[in-house]
Amino acid sequence: MCGIVGYVGSKQAAPWLLEGLQTLEYRGYDSAGVSVVSPSGNLHGVKCAGRVAHLVERAKVANLNGTCGIGHTRWATHGAPTDRNAHPHYDCSGRIAVVHNGIIENYQVLKRQLMLDGHAFASDTDSEVIAHLIEEAWNGPAKGDLASAVRNACDRLEGSWALAVVCADVPGELVVTRCGSPLVVASTDDGAYAASDVMPLASVTSHVLQLEDFDIATLGSDGSISIIDRDGRTVDHPTAIDIDWDASAAKLGGYSDFMAKEISEQPEAIERLLAGRLGEHGIEMDELTLTRAELAAVDRVFIIACGTSYHVGLIAKTVIEKWARIPVSCEYASEFNYSDVLVTNHTMCVIITQSGETADTLTAARRMRGMGCNVFAITNVLGSTAAREADGALYIQAGPEVAVASTKAYTAQMVAAFLLALRLALAHERMSIEEVQRHYEDLCQVPGLMRQVLKRRWQDKQAARLFNGKTSALFLGRNVNSTSAYEGALKLKEISYLHAEAYPAGEMKHGPIALLEPGFPVVAIVPADHVHDKTVSNIQECLARGAVVVGVATDGDERVAKMCQAVLWVPPCPDELIVPVVAALHLQLLARYVARDRGYDVDKPRNLAKSVTVE
Ligand code: F6R
Repeated sequence: MCGIVGYVGSKQAAPWLLEGLQTLEYRGYDSAGVSVVSPSGNLHGVKCAGRVAHLVERAKVANLNGTCGIGHTRWATHGAPTDRNAHPHYDCSGRIAVVHNGIIENYQVLKRQLMLDGHAFASDTDSEVIAHLIEEAWNGPAKGDLASAVRNACDRLEGSWALAVVCADVPGELVVTRCGSPLVVASTDDGAYAASDVMPLASVTSHVLQLEDFDIATLGSDGSISIIDRDGRTVDHPTAIDIDWDASAAKLGGYSDFMAKEISEQPEAIERLLAGRLGEHGIEMDELTLTRAELAAVDRVFIIACGTSYHVGLIAKTVIEKWARIPVSCEYASEFNYSDVLVTNHTMCVIITQSGETADTLTAARRMRGMGCNVFAITNVLGSTAAREADGALYIQAGPEVAVASTKAYTAQMVAAFLLALRLALAHERMSIEEVQRHYEDLCQVPGLMRQVLKRRWQDKQAARLFNGKTSALFLGRNVNSTSAYEGALKLKEISYLHAEAYPAGEMKHGPIALLEPGFPVVAIVPADHVHDKTVSNIQECLARGAVVVGVATDGDERVAKMCQAVLWVPPCPDELIVPVVAALHLQLLARYVARDRGYDVDKPRNLAKSVTVE
């Protein structure tokens, strides 16, 4: 939610700030802005509702001269996405500018007090109070020391924040800080940079520093970075992260959109993840901090996640229960955080989060750690909060996922969960090494199977036409593929804005069947598995009511071919548990074609943001 950038150095600030905002736009895209301080101490900026591209146009005519500046791309929480609510926000004098990612929970109390003290507000946001609090401190106790003024202001804040602050009176200085929202900084020969995550920094460095909550960093135009903690003590050894992909990984590289690119990258992502994971003692997973004996003692697993990652959790539950015979609960983090939870002395917690920054998931993980559980994170983003706070973290190595709708992280996270299940199965002596090897070899077939599906994308393109003019759709599947149905429906609704319901196929008759009428589109995931005949019967029930059925079926299934108006063919998989990983590509492609047929931007669906850092 919201992306922030900052730069101070020897170059003009605006070009990189705008480029950085474009890279961070997946974090929010309803308004954007930049402010720049000129060496002579002029603070000026431009901000507007709409996409960063719109800001870039506005910036061209604004002549933003200056080598120090900050920028923001917004996902609105407080205040509509308008020009006046776009960041940066300014103090009364217009000499201090602030960008903020997070939520200030006590902003109403602070705003009332500040107004009584004579401050004039120019927006409806919670963030603007920060600029006025810094102003008070700057003119008062901090006496012209920007880092102290920021520290002073933060002492009065409740909630979460990542901030970047510039002041016209100190044109060679940029101050950044965080509490609960991510922020990284980097020192280079050209100057010092700050950003919400490593992505925009990949074009300037391969080495970034991770700020901890309440760290306050002062960045200088010579590239210097000095950090103090909340007590004013110098932080000598901030956590360093090496970015191991180049900037082109976050570029389109000839694709029309990031979603298309990321769908295509799945075979390679899975190959990277699987490489070197099979050793002579089974699955190699040094990321797990539990010893083999502790792993063998695990008697309950909680999997906690949100959205698409939650769907991975549902598959993981099935696989862990089947292979390791350990009871698993899979919970939505936002629900889990406000419910009773029963843990044993040997409960293990697995959090699944692509971004590693989802606020609900992080809260759940902290809660589980507080109860003494070992927390294992399956995540994609290097140095993310989830990875840093968990006892152990397995990186899925899918590379940057820029499209808001998760694709390659979904399938890579599933494969990571399969590996974890095998590790648990071996520790619990539910499988022999040979069986583990056989399952691992099955997983190694996934990239090849995915490549076959990618070659069949024309099937998805054709099937997408069946959704022309429709307003609603139903997704059905059984067993692990009820989860495929949930994920397929989520993908379709989030990027095509078509209402989509997903149900375990057998549940349809208990209510959703009432939706069906002639021409109603149904997507049925019906591979050759142990529930195939049951799902086929459910398709018949749909057809009997005039529904248009798109089947997702195994090659050669004539029965399904005869019944359905379109079939998305999946090559035979060595294990029916693997089908959701392979079939996912068809469901992603289908959603993308439907959305594109409707003329929507598949990478930036309305109202959404990639990284959900608010509760
Ligand atoms: C859907 C999607 C979201 C995320 C969810 C959790 O395509 O991307 O549902 O899966 O917001 O995000 P992470 O995995 O970053 O915790």
